[in-house]
Amino acid sequence: MQEQLELLIQEAEQEIAQCSSPNDILNAKAKYLGKKSLLNSLYGKMKELDASQRPAFGNQLNQIRKQIEAALNKRATAIKEISWQKDRAEFDPTMPGIKLERGGYHPLSIIRNQINEVFLSMGFEIAEGDDIEDEFHNFDALNTPADHPSRNLADTFYVEDGKLLRTQTSTVQIRVLENYKPPIRIISPGRCYRNDKPDPSHSPVFHQVEALVVDKGISMSDLQDTLQNFASIMFGPQIKSRIRPHFFPFTEPSAEMDISCVACAGEGCRVCKQSGWLEMGGAGMVDPAVFDILGIDSEYYTGFAFGLGIERIAMLKYNIPDMRILFENDLRMLRQFQGEL
Ligand code: DAH
Repeated sequence: MQEQLELLIQEAEQEIAQCSSPNDILNAKAKYLGKKSLLNSLYGKMKELDASQRPAFGNQLNQIRKQIEAALNKRATAIKEISWQKDRAEFDPTMPGIKLERGGYHPLSIIRNQINEVFLSMGFEIAEGDDIEDEFHNFDALNTPADHPSRNLADTFYVEDGKLLRTQTSTVQIRVLENYKPPIRIISPGRCYRNDKPDPSHSPVFHQVEALVVDKGISMSDLQDTLQNFASIMFGPQIKSRIRPHFFPFTEPSAEMDISCVACAGEGCRVCKQSGWLEMGGAGMVDPAVFDILGIDSEYYTGFAFGLGIERIAMLKYNIPDMRILFENDLRMLRQFQGEL
């Protein structure tokens, strides 16, 4: 028996000395100390011994176990050291590193956030709406007649079951009016969809920011004030604004909003097509018919609303001549307009 134990240690130590990887160590450990190892089976043999001999035999087995464990640990450390040495020998500190490109925000995200900040500073809250809407929220509740051209299949992307991709963020006006009581003071930035061919000023997917203010005594001058504040903060204190009569089904009176040209200060240039003014979007006083559809007392409450095009603002801020550039995700464009949110 003693001889067998000697042999076991010898064999184990030899094999461990030849291990050359962490895997080899694991295998040797299983072989010599594992459940199926000889050593383990010898522990089972203790019962066959005379009671007086058991403690000495047990001690001896423990001793062997410790010796094998020590050999395994020593070899594992040596293997690690060898691999470090190899790494160090192969490591060339003069090799150029891998350059990690810095990511950036899309100009539309940057501008959307700036717009949000401007309106938050004026006490507005941000409301969100879904891209997929129904005809009620995109048209009916916005007082848009059944035969209005914008409902046309050629202009609106219909999905299924009467659902559509919203053509305007004005849908959020309705969602908010359905769910909240005045006073209301929200903006809602988001994506819109129209079946337009891409060209320098159109894209089938684009972004608007909707604004809705409803309270007792809200008037057209509140709309003008808000527009002027927005223009001054976004484009500079020298920028003027104006509204012109227009028509939208859900506002009465309706207006179109302009700001003085940011490129020529109103002198007339290519950017403003010599007019001195830039169109920013539609606006107006919420049509009492919309309040009536939603059961809001139009005798008591009045409100204004407007919708701004985010692409337009981004293009003016970044001097981008063609809207399509914003959607091509050309890395050169993304790098050029990199900025913080
Ligand atoms: N939703 C309109 C459009 O996409 C823009 C608009 C006009 C929004 C008047 C408004 C508004 O909130 O009052 O053409």
